[in-house]
Amino acid sequence: MGISASPAPAVPSPAEPGDASAQPGLRSDTFDPQGPSLIVQADNLHYLRELPDGAFTVIYIDPPFNTGKKQTRRTLSSEASEKGDRTGFKGKSYSSTLQTLASYNDSFEDYWAFLAPRIEQAHRLLAQDGTLYLHLDWREVHYVKIMCDMIFGRENFINELIWAYDYGAKSTRRWPTKHDNILVYAKDHRSYYFNTAEVDREPYMAPGLVTEEKASRGKLPTDVWWHTIVSPTGKEKTGYPTQKPTGLLRRMIAASSRPGDWVLDFFAGSGSTGAAAAQLGRKFVCVDQNPPAIEVMAKRLNVDPVSFEAYRGVPRGASVLFTPKRTVGVRGGTSRDALTAASRHALKAVLETLTETTRPVEGASCKFVRHWSMDTVDRKMRVDGRNELRRQRQARAKARAARAAEAAASTADEVLQHRASRESL
Ligand SMILES: C[S@@+](CC[C@H](N)C(=O)[O-])C[C@H]1O[C@@H](n2cnc3c(N)ncnc32)[C@H](O)[C@@H]1O
Repeated sequence: MGISASPAPAVPSPAEPGDASAQPGLRSDTFDPQGPSLIVQADNLHYLRELPDGAFTVIYIDPPFNTGKKQTRRTLSSEASEKGDRTGFKGKSYSSTLQTLASYNDSFEDYWAFLAPRIEQAHRLLAQDGTLYLHLDWREVHYVKIMCDMIFGRENFINELIWAYDYGAKSTRRWPTKHDNILVYAKDHRSYYFNTAEVDREPYMAPGLVTEEKASRGKLPTDVWWHTIVSPTGKEKTGYPTQKPTGLLRRMIAASSRPGDWVLDFFAGSGSTGAAAAQLGRKFVCVDQNPPAIEVMAKRLNVDPVSFEAYRGVPRGASVLFTPKRTVGVRGGTSRDALTAASRHALKAVLETLTETTRPVEGASCKFVRHWSMDTVDRKMRVDGRNELRRQRQARAKARAARAAEAAASTADEVLQHRASRESL
């Protein structure tokens, strides 16, 4: 897996925190430590590289597991499988089991290659008293923990928070998985800021066992956080898939920063981090590349309309709504760029529903920046979108041809053969 085993990444020469001009290549419209909070549309890695060392006191990220990269399977040859020297579970040879593991590792390798350079940047961007909160699920957390130990140093691992909720379908084939994991790392375990005085408290499980005064104050959360998911009918809901509750973000930001400090989320989605930071009087930078995320954040975090107007007016290429399974189409674009009218309508409808549902957070304000890295992202989205449509068109044409051949077939065997080939499309 593509990462060096050094405990901390090489970082550029240090600059005075807050001194934007001290960093070569840093432009004040990209980030100004004295300036307003920001929503940034960017491919986060390119943008992060331009930010000054040590600028953020809290970094929270909730990265997607599916990075969109095609998986290149490194399968062992069937010959190797047959030569498996011992037979294991269900008669499978060890080498075929190894083959299954290898294909799983390939998919994780893509994820590792995507995440590691971004975590390295997070490490560089944290202030000396800063803290990273990394939101993961039970499938990834053990691998990513190792990655973070390598980047931050094991001694700077502070907590594993368990966010427990009770919502949605429950498996009857295993214990229903109803928790996420949040890894907490300090830039430096000797000097990180942590103060629970402002943290929202929670009710005691057995209030009868403590004094009335204690029961009414509530208790400090432990490392297991029982907290509802964003209610599908509640005020907080934006409709953005994977939106996290601001209640979680408030706890992290309240404990690990002071009013006026900078908070960064570079997989910002619906902007829950920005919402919590604004409520608590912190400044924020929320980065995402996905147009629907930008629209939701713009409304939720009260974007300055002048900075946003230019962006909205410019036609863009294909945009993919963040959910691995739904490609919803283009935002504007010339006729050569255009996918289909139907997909354009679908995207428009999605954006309208999202922004209709979203409510602005009181007291939030920020500026919008479209980073240069979006030119490449837009181009890639356009190409991917066109390829996807072409693939779908070809699959439909093949299915039509197979149906026609099936109708014309004279023997039962031929019918079955055509049907099988149609179903394999
Ligand atoms: C799991 S969602 C985050 C949800 C967010 N925590 C919330 O509360 O709404 C991950 C986000 O990362 C964004 N993303 C993925 N890859 C990115 C990249 N390379 N640069 C910027 N944003 C990216 C996706 O568009 C998506 O909105």
